[in-house]
Amino acid sequence: MAKKTIDQVDVAGKTVLMRVDFNVPLDDNQTITDDRRIRMALPSIKSVIDRGGKLILMSHLGRPKGEPSDVEKFSLAPVAIRLGELLDKTVAFSSDTVGADAEAKAAALSDGDVLVLENLRFNDGEKKGDAEFAGKLAAMADVYCNDAFGTCHRKDASMVAVPEAMAGKSRVVGHLVAKEIQYLSDAIANPERPFVAILGGAKVSDKINVINNLLGICDAVLIGGAMAYTFSLAKGEAVGNSLVEKDKVDLAKELIAKGGDKLVLPVDTHCGDDFGDPEGCNKEIVPAGEIKDGFEGMDIGPATSAQYSKILASAKTIVWNGPMGVFEKPPFDAGTKAVAQAVADSDSISIIGGGDSAAAVDQLGFADQVSHVSTGGGASLAMLEGQSFAAVDLLDEA
Ligand code: 3PG
Ligand code: MG
Repeated sequence: MAKKTIDQVDVAGKTVLMRVDFNVPLDDNQTITDDRRIRMALPSIKSVIDRGGKLILMSHLGRPKGEPSDVEKFSLAPVAIRLGELLDKTVAFSSDTVGADAEAKAAALSDGDVLVLENLRFNDGEKKGDAEFAGKLAAMADVYCNDAFGTCHRKDASMVAVPEAMAGKSRVVGHLVAKEIQYLSDAIANPERPFVAILGGAKVSDKINVINNLLGICDAVLIGGAMAYTFSLAKGEAVGNSLVEKDKVDLAKELIAKGGDKLVLPVDTHCGDDFGDPEGCNKEIVPAGEIKDGFEGMDIGPATSAQYSKILASAKTIVWNGPMGVFEKPPFDAGTKAVAQAVADSDSISIIGGGDSAAAVDQLGFADQVSHVSTGGGASLAMLEGQSFAAVDLLDEA
């Protein structure tokens, strides 16, 4: 069912409390190294301020542990500055979330102004879903908007208890959440076929539920990354020094049995004998399951790349989560690159999960050649598992 969006609410003169996911990566100098999550929230932010709403933005950043150094390390201050640059406008920032500074700055907002509150997780009530904390946030505004896709799988106070406390007021999704749901849930529930999933990454255990769910709805599930070696082990093959999860072998056997022809495993592997020196180490390409002692698998091989590319060429819907190999370390980026190229070349609705997969398509220069790159890591996986989100379910229907 479609959710009501921020565009469908009259916000003129009203205060909108918008939960965003500004949990962006920062380097040691508190410089933002990837501002995509901020840029992706701009349509909702502009929708409010361009129509004369007063906007209060709230987010978490990282996982502060209550240490004194947290105050600087996990502050949203650099994010407020970056947002001001992107909007080309003054953005107020409060040094607390529900304290005197936030209250004063919220009260001082004029129509079209923006205030960013300090990190929600500086308050214990956020992770606990505390009703008193949520009540204070809820009291600040007339309208609630969830545009924090990356956090939608969480039940933190700002995601659930705050909109609960705002029952009777408008509670809507933003553009980003609407778009993510459209791709990661709707497009998958009703896919144009053939529907092909590509699943990579290090661990089978991270992706079990995704593999299970997608085996039920996809026409093919292509496996890459180190998790392929756990499948190899399950078939009794040689994996050398490859990264494997020995305790997941039985599970891999079950997935192989359940998947049948739909579960497609690599046919060859690009191996090296020194993970720390990918360029200088000895390398060889071997048939899958014939990795020698002293070598470890670091990427799918060229025959696998060709086979996967052929399957992807005729796909009409593609979901990709997890790189095919150690894409940060050439030449072991070749498999991920080949798959990215095949996805880009295909005439499909192509959906890329967040986290590593998003970083890979971005780094390899394919981000603008796919239909959608998710801003959610854990959230996009949870949605691909078919989970529903309390933080979205409770919002108003269109
Ligand atoms: C993320 O980056 O995964 C989201 O911002 C959620 O953060 P969390 O995993 O710390 O809850
Ligand atoms: Mg996470």
